[in-house]
Formats: sequence, structure tokens, C-alpha cells
Amino acid sequence: MATTPELKEQAEKTENPADLAGTLLVGSELEVHRLGFGAMRITGDGIWGHPKDPDLARRVLQRAVALGANFIDTADSYGPYVSEELIAEALTPYPPDLVIATKGGWDRPGPNQWTHNASPKHLREAVEGSLRRLRLDRIDVYQLHIPDPAVSLEASVEALAQFQAEGKIRFVALSNVAMDQIERARKIVPIVSVQNRYSFADREWDYVVDYCELNGIAFIPWHPLSSSRIANLLLERIAKNHQKTPKQVALAWLLKRSPIMLPIPGTSSIEHLEENVHAASLRLTDEEYGDLTSVSQPPSSLRD
Ligand SMILES: NC(=O)c1ccc[n+]([C@@H]2O[C@H](COP(=O)([O-])OP(=O)(O)OC[C@H]3O[C@@H](n4cnc5c(N)ncnc54)[C@H](OP(=O)(O)O)[C@@H]3O)[C@@H](O)[C@H]2O)c1
Repeated sequence: MATTPELKEQAEKTENPADLAGTLLVGSELEVHRLGFGAMRITGDGIWGHPKDPDLARRVLQRAVALGANFIDTADSYGPYVSEELIAEALTPYPPDLVIATKGGWDRPGPNQWTHNASPKHLREAVEGSLRRLRLDRIDVYQLHIPDPAVSLEASVEALAQFQAEGKIRFVALSNVAMDQIERARKIVPIVSVQNRYSFADREWDYVVDYCELNGIAFIPWHPLSSSRIANLLLERIAKNHQKTPKQVALAWLLKRSPIMLPIPGTSSIEHLEENVHAASLRLTDEEYGDLTSVSQPPSSLRD
């Protein structure tokens, strides 16, 4: 078993279990624990409207911070606006080490619907709106939610660079991008993080993780808990070995995958939150890591 008795004891005792994931520097300045919180699931069904129990949503956020998760991911489109409003209600005055990363450029016109909207004009309105809802003078990490096919990537990124120059955002980041898009954006402004869909079972963006590691860019996997039917038995066996859960094993695989990995599991439940954050104390053996890696090869066209 790789979860040593010492680590287990430390995890039970520590008030901030997220600390055990280690830290990562986002940009040159923001040191965060490598297990964050995704605040998309605290809204209503279909990521639309208010949650059934707003008080519970606020308590989930407060508990995440109390457990040591000091990187919270959100977006103007979650609700829309609801996730950012709940974050401000639950967490202001913000702890000095809390980093909030929000996004703009992908709107939410209805439940489970998305529309691109990353024109410079709209991004300015989006940043101003996020500043207001989050009650911040400056947003630490602002992510282009997804490139807009109707707007050149350069125009969207130049707008974000302009907001940085104006002091409205501290660092510029990207989401849902391929490597050439990251490279084009980096010609305009330093990019501190990339957020793409990724888990041990879903490795389409493996090469982007490698690129980020090589270039000192944080990689934020969204949907980090996703698994596959074929991997479930293996996950369960490894989980049993460590007296942990399959979801915790999936998160431990990510943490071992790369030192620039910053998972942001999302939940509306305090119980699930506790479970997810306590994954920080799980250390997979090289063999377990290899077994999980080999059941989930990336698409062959991207492997070599
Ligand atoms: N950039 C993008 O385009 C993009 C897209 C999607 C998501 N995101 C970000 O990434 C974050 C994470 O992604 P995600 O929410 O899609 O996927 P996820 O974190 O992999 O999974 C969340 C789902 O798993 C459930 N869950 C969480 N912890 C659990 C546990 N311990 N046991 C059982 N079920 C559990 C949640 O339901 P319960 O609420 O019942 O726990 C929820 O349905 C989001 O919150 C958001 O911040 C970004």
C-alpha cells in the first residue's frame, strides 16, 4: 500500500487535507494547493438558475476553503451568474490566499445550452460583470472559456491582455484549446493555465498536459472524476487496497500524472467534497498508476 500509515495519520489529523496534494505556482505569484474546487455544480439543474438549497451551496464553498482548497474555478455562465454570486456571498471577506479563477466567452442562454460569445466587446462586459459579482477589484485568473469560431483567437486574447494592462485581471488563461491555439495566445500574453477535459480515462489532451508541463503552465482538468466501464473494476481494486474510494483513486492518478496538474472536482454535496479533498493523501504505487494509465490509452493519432 502506498498510502503510508504516517500519511494516513497526517490526513486524519490535518485540518487542511488539501495541503497534502502539495502546491503549485499559478503564474509567477499565486501558490495554491493542487486540489481545488469546481463551482459549476452549485447552481440549479442543467447549470441553470439557483440551487434548490442556496444555504447548502454556500456551506459547500465554505467547507472547501476550510479543508484547504484555495483555488476555486467558476464562470459567468454557471447559472448564469449564480455561481459567482454564491462565491461572494459565502466567502467575502476572502481569505488572502484564496485564488478565484473565472471565465467568460461562452454564454448560457438556457438549461444545458451554450453559445459562443468571445468578441472583445462582450469580453469587456463579461469581465466587468464578474468583477462586480465576485466583489473584486481584480480577478486573479481570467480564462477565455472557449475560442469563438466567429472571432479570431487573437482578437479575444488581445482583449484579455488589454484588461490585464488595465489592472482588471491579474493573469490570463485559456480553456478548451488545442496546442496551436495556446502557442498563438502566448505570442500575445503569458498564459498561466489551460483548462481542458481530462481524467485517467479520458486522455485526448495528453499532449497538451505534456506541453503545459514543459512550459510551466498549470493544467486544470475539467470533468476530473470521469471513468470508464472498463476501468471500474480496477479502480475498485486499487481503492480497496488503500481503503479509499474509486473517485479518490481517479483524483490520485491526476495528481501523480504531472506536478502542474490542478484538479477541480465539482460537487453540490459536503460529503462528496470531503471525499474528494481527502484524495490528496492517497499516493498510488507506480504499478497502480501504470495499470490505470494502460486501460486508458489516448487516441492513437495523438500518441506518437
Ligand atoms: N472549462 C470548461 O469548459 C468546463 C466544463 C465543465 C466543467 N468545468 C469545471 O470543472 C469542474 C469539474 O467538472 P465537472 O463538475 O463537470 O466534473 P466532475 O468534477 O468530474 O464531476 C462532478 C459530478 O460528479 C459528482 N461527484 C462529485 N464528487 C463525487 C463523489 N465523491 N462521489 C460521487 N459523485 C461525485 C457530482 O455530483 P454531486 O453534486 O452529487 O456530488 C457531479 O455530478 C466544474 O465544477 C467546473 O468548475 C469546466
